[in-house]
Amino acid sequence: MDTQTSLFSPKYLQEEEALSQECKELISSLPKEKGWIFSHIYKYEGFWYSARHLQGVIACQKYFHAQESDIFLVTTPKSGTTWLKAIMFTLVNRKRYQVRENHPLLNNNPHNLVPFLELEYMDIEQPDLSFSSSPRLFATHFPYFLMPNSVHDFACKIVYLCRNPKDNLVSLWHFAKKLKLQATGIHSLEEAFDMFCSGLSPCGPFWDHALHYWNESKKNSRILFLKYEDMKEEPAVHLRRLAEFLGYPFSADEEETGIVEEILKLCSFDNLSNLDINKTDKKAYGMENKSFFRRGEVGDWKNHLSTEMAKKLDKITEQKFSGFGLVL
Ligand code: A3P
Repeated sequence: MDTQTSLFSPKYLQEEEALSQECKELISSLPKEKGWIFSHIYKYEGFWYSARHLQGVIACQKYFHAQESDIFLVTTPKSGTTWLKAIMFTLVNRKRYQVRENHPLLNNNPHNLVPFLELEYMDIEQPDLSFSSSPRLFATHFPYFLMPNSVHDFACKIVYLCRNPKDNLVSLWHFAKKLKLQATGIHSLEEAFDMFCSGLSPCGPFWDHALHYWNESKKNSRILFLKYEDMKEEPAVHLRRLAEFLGYPFSADEEETGIVEEILKLCSFDNLSNLDINKTDKKAYGMENKSFFRRGEVGDWKNHLSTEMAKKLDKITEQKFSGFGLVL
């Protein structure tokens, strides 16, 4: 990015300029491809990152110390992180913040209530991660094997949210189009499609990311594997499952008051996307809150992908997951 562009672009788009010497040296040795939002992505330990995201990943692996009670929401970008952040925050804090009364979600974007772990380390090696309440809730795009060791040592709870790859790709493409600069990043849906199929998506390959967590969730009860589509189809069933898993099950009294429906309504796409805070405000790095809300539906890929594209993606998914029992 030239100096002129970098002076006027939002902070999230400032790339290599802001990197530490250590990270500059590392990325110079990594496989490099064209990025979706940023000019380039780099392959580190099998997964693709923008330069600054990678800086956060490495610092976080080095310096982050998990606490036993920490809870992690893991996703690949655009699989419904914003929604699950809202739900998980509301669930675990519902004694402190009554769902019906002046809830923090009414004045805060979910990303400000549940931080992205590695992004906290993007510019600061030792960020302040003291929370005003316990447990600490973090979201992350870390692949399973790159999670900081202490997360596994303490057997912290992990919720993995996965989405159908066709919808994930379409959502990612729209997001990238909105956020990227004119001159950089991907341009056509065809180009995005080819990159996604080759595994070249942010924090991808999509399938490898999901499969590691899927396989671990089969043998490890501290990992809950959720699908966006299931959540959309039977939200109350999965909300109760999630509450149970996190150690915050609904009591009979709570059930009687209709709290499950209240939480779902508070965190629904319609409610969140229509709040002023999410229509007009920006995140600290300059991303607009509204860029995290588009349609929030299952099957929007049908409006964008050709039959051939859909078939090709389905075939890749079938092949990648064959023998593992994961169907998306
Ligand atoms: P679409 O682009 O398909 O609409 P992430 O939060 O991981 O960035 O994912 C963004 C996707 O989740 C977008 O999908 C967005 O519209 C959708 N989304 C955001 N909030 C949601 C909500 N409360 N319920 C359902 N989907 C939501």
